[in-house]
Amino acid sequence: MAKKAQSKQVSLPIYVLNGPTLNLLGEREPEIYGRTTLAEISKMVTARAKAHGLAVVFRQSNHEGELIDWVQEARKKSCGVILNGAAFTHTSIALYDALRALDKPLIEVHLSNPAAREPFRHHSYVSRVANGVICGLGADGYVVAVDAISKLVKG
Ligand code: DQA
Repeated sequence: MAKKAQSKQVSLPIYVLNGPTLNLLGEREPEIYGRTTLAEISKMVTARAKAHGLAVVFRQSNHEGELIDWVQEARKKSCGVILNGAAFTHTSIALYDALRALDKPLIEVHLSNPAAREPFRHHSYVSRVANGVICGLGADGYVVAVDAISKLVKG
């Protein structure tokens, strides 16, 4: 009898980490970032992850050190990380160093397409260590990121 393809069981959650000012999504520059709130994105991500049999820890911080603490926590407590580092993407060597030590699949997400914006957004420290980058798709990019990380963590 043919063997059925077995999907790998993953018990640890995906950490979805969001950087500064993403708490204002929906109100902040909606022409750039859209009208979907972070709470709505959290629901979308959690539902998509559930469809893949995965749980989600969804967080936002305006503080660089808190994001770094969460990346370090994710080394042991997550199966992989989806990160929208917001402005820290372009500035934070400290966040980059923490991500270098992550040793788990990492997908970088941006709602907008930084490459099509101001020159100071063109460089990303996160991209150097990310498995993949999804940008310019608005809130839907987070859902695409869940699909991508699910594939990576299940091998
Ligand atoms: C962002 C893009 C960054 O350049 C910016 O600083 C943000 C949001 C995005 O999701 O499009 O805060 O990460």
